[in-house]
This record gives sequence, structure tokens and C-alpha cells, in this order.
Amino acid sequence: MVEMYGLDAWVAHGSGIMLPGVNLDNAATTPPFLDVARAVQRHLRYYGSVGRGTGQKSKHSSAFYEEGRKTILDFVGANEDKYTVFYANNTTDGINKLASALTAGGNVLVVSTRMEHHANDLPWRGRAHMEYAEVDADGRLVLEDFERILRRGKYKNMAKYVTVTAASNVTGYVNDVHEIARIAHKHGAQIIVDGAQIVAHRQFSMGGRPKADEDIDFFVFSAHKMYSPYGGGAVVGRKDVLAAHMPQFCGGGMVVTVSDDDVVYAEVPDLYEAGSPNVPGIVGMLTAMKTLKKIGFKRIARHEQKLLGKALGGLSKINNVVLYGDSTNIADRVGILVFNIIGRQPEDVASQLACRAGIAVRHAAFCAHPYVRRLEGAAPHELCGKAQPPKGMVRISFGIYNTEDDVDLLLRTVAQIADDGAARAAECVAQYEAQGKAPNDRG
Ligand code: ALA
Repeated sequence: MVEMYGLDAWVAHGSGIMLPGVNLDNAATTPPFLDVARAVQRHLRYYGSVGRGTGQKSKHSSAFYEEGRKTILDFVGANEDKYTVFYANNTTDGINKLASALTAGGNVLVVSTRMEHHANDLPWRGRAHMEYAEVDADGRLVLEDFERILRRGKYKNMAKYVTVTAASNVTGYVNDVHEIARIAHKHGAQIIVDGAQIVAHRQFSMGGRPKADEDIDFFVFSAHKMYSPYGGGAVVGRKDVLAAHMPQFCGGGMVVTVSDDDVVYAEVPDLYEAGSPNVPGIVGMLTAMKTLKKIGFKRIARHEQKLLGKALGGLSKINNVVLYGDSTNIADRVGILVFNIIGRQPEDVASQLACRAGIAVRHAAFCAHPYVRRLEGAAPHELCGKAQPPKGMVRISFGIYNTEDDVDLLLRTVAQIADDGAARAAECVAQYEAQGKAPNDRG
């Protein structure tokens, strides 16, 4: 479907041999498109400082950097009159900068959800009064909660923001953010969407519907989850709102002039971009966007749905495997699933997948502890106060280059792990760790 870089690198198996690894951890980070690796290398020959020099390389990099904003606006269907783009280091960085700006001055209500990654919860905590929309027994968002919270009279004179993930990094549920935008706007709130898990998986549009009240106000995402691992990300946001606020992140590049006792700040988007930018990250991200568009999001979604359906169907037939979330109606899930094997720790299962078959996954609580506790069925009194981290699960997350063979290998290996005793498992991991091999190209 697409040319990737590095998938043929060898990783150690417990048996002592080296074989190409199978990456099923794309929700954490994706390997690069070959196009992306080539474009970055090409650009580095002509690389220079952005907005700070008159040398030709500097001018070239600066022009590329400015032009890139248009590529991003186009990628998310954003109109240039209404929206601007500021570059960020990643989603966490983008949300922190937004939160610092939008909550300055206090008296702010932020409605988040119990499905969020910590990156879209913690930057707001302590800065704003927080309320949370709950999730239901399957782990889907309870949409009525937004209306219920925003309707309350006591929040009448507060600045209001709703901040929600477009897709969960734990269950892969895709949220109807345009419907949530409609509810938010009806109650005078603006909406911020964490796009980390959607941006490489489904077509995302800031508008997308005929009615302006369903438009998204801010969209934040990272490049390393879209096949460009050089860092970088972006915030697409409303020009008028960004211009009316100040990020709590200052330095060179965001001012017109500084006197002994005063500062004249630059306009948006420069105001949000203090410091020298990550040009290779931006080159990679823009190239990845073009490649994703060329492949087409319908095709990507179809492929990931096929792999997800096959994996869920196969796992549900293995004795002692517990799946979380709705495994029957999966149309609203990107290619992410979480599971456990009864009687085994998630870390043990994840290590077994690596040592038996070279399969890379993530385990534990995925920086989404409140959500994972709910999926685990924690009682209300277990959700608050100082607590141990949740036990968590094993996560499988697909990218567009994964194949049905990868799913078959996963299912065979999970079945072996579920069958084998803990003693055999420990032996396998010990053997694997004793080898101490690093990935390489020689075997
Ligand atoms: N947010 C990333 C994940 O879910 C790191 O794994």
C-alpha cells in the first residue's frame, strides 16, 4: 500500500534468532514513510535558520516554513480567513500552550472527559475549574453530559471551553466532535480537539458540515503518529481567539521589539512560536500529509477496520482473553484494541509477544488512568484520591502498513501465551533478556 522505512530491521526473538519485527504499537508512534525520510534528508542540504537570516538557505527554509501553514490548513479543511496554524513540538506541547493562553486571567470553566489522554487533562487542571463528561459501560462518551454541565447557571459568567479527544488512544473510539461542537457553541463555549489519534487514520475537517455552529475551534496533533518521527506537530485554531490571548511561553521570535520596560508582541501565529522551530520535523510532517492524502483516508479506514475486525474476532475466541470496549459494533473505532489474559500481568504478556514473535505493543495504562480505571470497572470510591496506577491492559494498534499476516501472527502468539504456564513464560523472557541484542540489519 505504501513504502515504509525500517520495517525490515531485525529484532531479537527469545529463541536466539533475529527476524524483522512486527510493530503493533502505532498509537504510540509510527515508523516513517520512505517519502518522509527522503524529503527530510533532501531538505537538510538546504537547511538554514527560519525567520532569522538573509542567507539563501535561511530564506529557503523560511519560505518552506510559512508555506507549510497552507498545507496544514488544507489538510484539515480549514479556511484561511478564519483559522491560522502555529507549529508545536507535539500534541502535549500544543495543548499546554493553548491551555496557558486560554485560561490566563482565571474564571474559566473547562469541560473535559474521562476518556482523555493525560495530555488533554493535566494541562487544564490547576488552571481552570474542571468538569468531566463521563463514559458509559462500553467506554463510549456520554454526550448528554456536555449539555448537562454547560447548562448549569453557576457557570454563566465564566469563559468556557470543551476539550475532547477525536479518538481514544485506549479503545480507539471516534467521538462525534462536530456534535459536541454544536452543544458547546450553543452554551457559549469553544471546542478544542485532541487530534493525536485521528490525524493519520480518518479524514478530519474543521468544518465538515454545512452549519458553522459545528465547526471546530482548535485542533492539535503530532507528527510522530503520522509516519514522520522527527518531532513536530501543530495547532490549527481560530485567529481571533488566539490574537486575544497570550501563551505563557516566551522568547525570541514572538516580539516586534523589546525596550527596557516594555514589549511589543508579534501577531499570530508568531506570538505562539517562541524559539527556533524544528524544521526537519515540519518537513517530515508536511510530506506525510501529502502521502496520506495520496493514499486516501477511505482506503486507510477500510484497511484498519479489516485488521481490527479480524483481531477482535480472533482474540474473542481464545480462552482466558478479556477484551475491553464494544467488539461487535466497531465502525466508530480506529485500529486500536486493548485486552488482558486472565491471571497474567499486562507487562508479562507484552514481553512474551516481543520475545516469542518480535511483536511490539504497549501495555499498562496508556497515560489515560481515569479512563483505564473505568474500563477495568473500578468502583466510584476507587476513582478518587491518591491511588496506585491501574493494572491496565495490553494494547494493539494498527498502522496502514500492517497486514493480515501480522494479525495471524498476533493471534497465534496470544493463543500460545494463554496456553503456556507462567513458568514457561518466565523462562522465555529470561532467555530473551539474556541475549541483550539491539535491533540491527545483520541478524
Ligand atoms: N500517546 C501515546 C500512546 O498512547 C504515547 O501510546
